[in-house]
Amino acid sequence: MGGDARNMKVGFAQFEPVFGDIGRNIEKAEQLLGGTEAELVVLPELFNTGYVFTSREEAVALSESIPGGKTTAALSRIAREKGIHIVAGLAERAGDNIYNSAVLVSPAGHQGTYRKTHLFNEETIWFTSGDRGFQVYDIGNCRIGIMICFDWFFPESARILALKGADVICHCANLVLPFCQDGMATRCLENHVFAVTANRTGTEKQGGRNCLFTGRSQVMGPDADVLYRAGSDTEEVGVVDIDVLAARDKKLNRYNDLFKDRQSGLYGDLLKPFAGGQ
Ligand code: ACM
Repeated sequence: MGGDARNMKVGFAQFEPVFGDIGRNIEKAEQLLGGTEAELVVLPELFNTGYVFTSREEAVALSESIPGGKTTAALSRIAREKGIHIVAGLAERAGDNIYNSAVLVSPAGHQGTYRKTHLFNEETIWFTSGDRGFQVYDIGNCRIGIMICFDWFFPESARILALKGADVICHCANLVLPFCQDGMATRCLENHVFAVTANRTGTEKQGGRNCLFTGRSQVMGPDADVLYRAGSDTEEVGVVDIDVLAARDKKLNRYNDLFKDRQSGLYGDLLKPFAGGQ
């Protein structure tokens, strides 16, 4: 199984961003990362701005260009000073579009940007759906893929990342539904990959109601083992030592290999529109 071990420390920082206070939220992330020994750390979706925008103007005002904006610059500085890789969610301004994006930064600076593909609920008002698909990055010790929150609900997201060779799925999140943390067991199991879900805590007002974020960030292993799970309302950093090579072995048993057993010739219908309905 899998050959020699290749150990690596991966984790997340979970906290409650203050809506609209980018400086404070970057400071908070830096403070949490300051005491962390890890090679790869994932921060939540929209970690620098908070989640509940109330107008397009507000979303425009809080968005930044990537890599030119101050948040990517701050993350790159932190990555350089600490010698780590960081994946973090932020609102990206590109021309007339605002994307719900995540950056990968390394000690050498900005390495890539993912734009959320599957927008959730009112995000569809402020953001444009991602137009770049799912990319995998080789960060030396391992290959990582990035997805953002609601992307998990679409099995294609994690599948494509795994087929492109991701060992670890970095999953920036602002989860409001209760299903994801357990649901990720299926994503990990069917693809035999690690996943780091970095969620936030706290509440933000949405219209007349409170939008409650569910915390419980986690690192999950390829056998759907919960390697670390945070509390539902704690400020917390979770780091786990993983053997990256465990994700390279897709054999389930002597006769089944998760990827070699795929019957791709029969999957063409996946690309056709929904034929059901009322
Ligand atoms: C979500 O996609 N932020 C629920």
